[in-house]
Amino acid sequence: MSLTGKVAVITGASSGIGHATAKALAAQGATVVVTGRREDRLVALAKEVVQDGGIADTYTCDVTDEGQATAMIEDVVKRHGRVDVLVNNAGVMLLSRIERGLTDEWRQMTDVNVHGVLFPTHAVIPVMKAQGSGTIVNISSTAARRSRPLGGVYAATKAAVAALSESVRLELLKDGIGVTVIIPGAVDTELSTHITDKEAQGGIAALKQNMEFLQPEDVAAAVVYAVGQPSRVNVSELVIRPRMQEF
Ligand SMILES: NC(=O)c1ccc[n+]([C@@H]2O[C@H](COP(=O)([O-])OP(=O)(O)OC[C@H]3O[C@@H](n4cnc5c(N)ncnc54)[C@H](OP(=O)(O)O)[C@@H]3O)[C@@H](O)[C@H]2O)c1
Repeated sequence: MSLTGKVAVITGASSGIGHATAKALAAQGATVVVTGRREDRLVALAKEVVQDGGIADTYTCDVTDEGQATAMIEDVVKRHGRVDVLVNNAGVMLLSRIERGLTDEWRQMTDVNVHGVLFPTHAVIPVMKAQGSGTIVNISSTAARRSRPLGGVYAATKAAVAALSESVRLELLKDGIGVTVIIPGAVDTELSTHITDKEAQGGIAALKQNMEFLQPEDVAAAVVYAVGQPSRVNVSELVIRPRMQEF
C-alpha cells in the first residue's frame, strides 16, 4: 500500500503514537508534516525520517489555539499543495477523582482532546472537499467505551472524539472523504507521566506491572492500514488492545 505522493499531517507527533505514526506513514512514501509544541523534537523526528529516505516537514502548533491550527493547515497547503491525511492524535490524559476538582486539568483535556480535534478538522474540510478526497483519522481510546474511576473527564473527551467523528463521517461521505476512529487500549508512551494525581499515578504503575502495554508502533500500524485502503473503503473504527487488557 504505497502512500507516495500523499501528504499527511500528524498532530502530537513529538512523542508516542504520533511520532511512530509519522515514521510509519513516511515509510510507506507519504510526505509527513509533523506538528506539536516541542519544536526540537519535531526537528529531530523530521531528520530521522529524512535519514530513513522519507520526506518530512515540521510545523510548531498548539492545537488548542484555533488560529494556530487553521494557519497550520493553510501553510501545509501552501507548502505541499494538498492534505490527503489528517491524523488528529494530540491528546492529554490527566486522571483524578472528580471529587478532587482539578478544574484546570479538566479544561486542558477538553481543550486539547476535543477542540484540538475540531480546529484542524474544520480547517482541513474545505481542502479535502476541493480535492474530492482525503482521510481524517481521530485517536479516541478504550476509555471512551468503559469509564473507570479517576478517568471520567478523559473518558468524556475521548467519547466526544468518537461521537464527533461519526458525525463528520456522515457529513462528508458524499465528498470522497473518509473518517476513521482508532481506539487504542493502554500504550507505552509518556502520556501518563503528565498525571499529577498520586492515586492515579499509582494506578498506572500497578497496571504496568500486571500487563504488557502496546507499543506506539502497534497503533501506528493500524493508522497505516486505515489510510492505505482503496478510496471505496472507509475503515470506520479500529479497536486495538493489549492482549491482557480486560477493559
Ligand atoms: N498511551 C495510551 O495508553 C493511549 C491510549 C489510548 C489513546 N491514546 C491517545 O493517543 C494520543 C497520543 O497519545 P500518546 O499516548 O502518544 O501520548 P504522548 O506521547 O504524551 O503524546 C501526546 C502528544 O500530544 C501533543 N500535545 C499535547 N498537548 C498539545 C497541544 N496543546 N497542542 C499540540 N499538541 C499537543 C504532545 O506534543 P507537545 O507536548 O510537543 O505539544 C504529544 O506529542 C492521545 O490522543 C491519547 O489520548 C493514548
